[in-house]
Amino acid sequence: MDRSSLIIAPIIGEVEDFKQLFGESLSSSNLLLQQVIAHIRQKSGKMMRPMLVLLAAKLLGGVKPATLHAAASLELLHTASLVHDDVVDDSTERRGQLSVNALYNNKVAVLTGDYLLATALVQAGLTRNIGIIDLISVLGRELADGELLQLSNVRSEQFSEDVYFEVIHKKTAALFAACTKAGALSVDADEEKIEFLRRFGEYIGLCFQIRDDIFDYYESKEIGKPTGNDMLEGKLTLPVLYALNSTHDEDAAAIALRVKSGKATADEIARLIAFAKQHDGIEYAIQTMNGYRDKALDLLSFAPANDVTDALAAYINYVVEREK
Ligand code: IPE
Ligand code: IPE
Ligand code: MG
Ligand code: MG
Repeated sequence: MDRSSLIIAPIIGEVEDFKQLFGESLSSSNLLLQQVIAHIRQKSGKMMRPMLVLLAAKLLGGVKPATLHAAASLELLHTASLVHDDVVDDSTERRGQLSVNALYNNKVAVLTGDYLLATALVQAGLTRNIGIIDLISVLGRELADGELLQLSNVRSEQFSEDVYFEVIHKKTAALFAACTKAGALSVDADEEKIEFLRRFGEYIGLCFQIRDDIFDYYESKEIGKPTGNDMLEGKLTLPVLYALNSTHDEDAAAIALRVKSGKATADEIARLIAFAKQHDGIEYAIQTMNGYRDKALDLLSFAPANDVTDALAAYINYVVEREK
């Protein structure tokens, strides 16, 4: 079986149930909203988060109605964060088509994101599971907190790996951790298993964002969103942070500060990207990511081997090796 078939095999029917619920959750009588939602739904994402919720629940028992509502809620929260993210990052492309802010404008994108976020809370409520409702409410704050930390870090003159990890913990890993935890909560797992799954999701989320940040250093048509955008927005990610901190190169540091202040030219950004690559920034980021992959695989080795653990192992390997 190829990797994507391995991932989906144990949850093939449940994924269809999820898709139906996700679609139904977004019905609206407002014409503009209907149009924007139709645009967003025209290109579906990779469904990484709902698949993780379903696999976590399946690992510990089986998918229940609460699992499906939690999966819908978390994919809605993710979708809301992407619609808002493209406003914040001034980005014109998402999933290989125009972003909502580019096709309409920032106002429509902010309000649609709000609607998706509120719909995520409706779905959380429908789980009728107070643990999941608490989890998703706290998560919404953490995602926003991570984005704000990232924004204030642009203004700081430090090249801190610690702050980078705090940002990716909050803005991305927290969501993946919530997916596995919600899956476990939805089947009423015991405390120990819930914490085990939460950590497992957290490692996957760290891998996911490091991989995403590496994409930004390369041209790619396949990935469906602009690359080279991070530095344009003043964001320094793991490869360049490593190169700066391991070489203490003064010229590169001066350019990096100009990137942070938003004053760097396209040529300077290209030079800083080349500098990160020359000084093993990409290799370092890949090694760091693989370290988290190994931690996740280690955790998985404690679970009894079956089609669900095979799917989860394939999922992790996909996250670290993916090209989009
Ligand atoms: C993009 O997530 C946002 C990040 C955390 C980097 P995905 O790459 O999972 O987005 P879709 O849903 O598949 O488009
Ligand atoms: C990823 O943000 C996390 C969220 C979507 C909140 P990024 O800005 O790094 O993600 P992309 O690259 O635009 O998908
Ligand atoms: Mg962003
Ligand atoms: Mg972005």
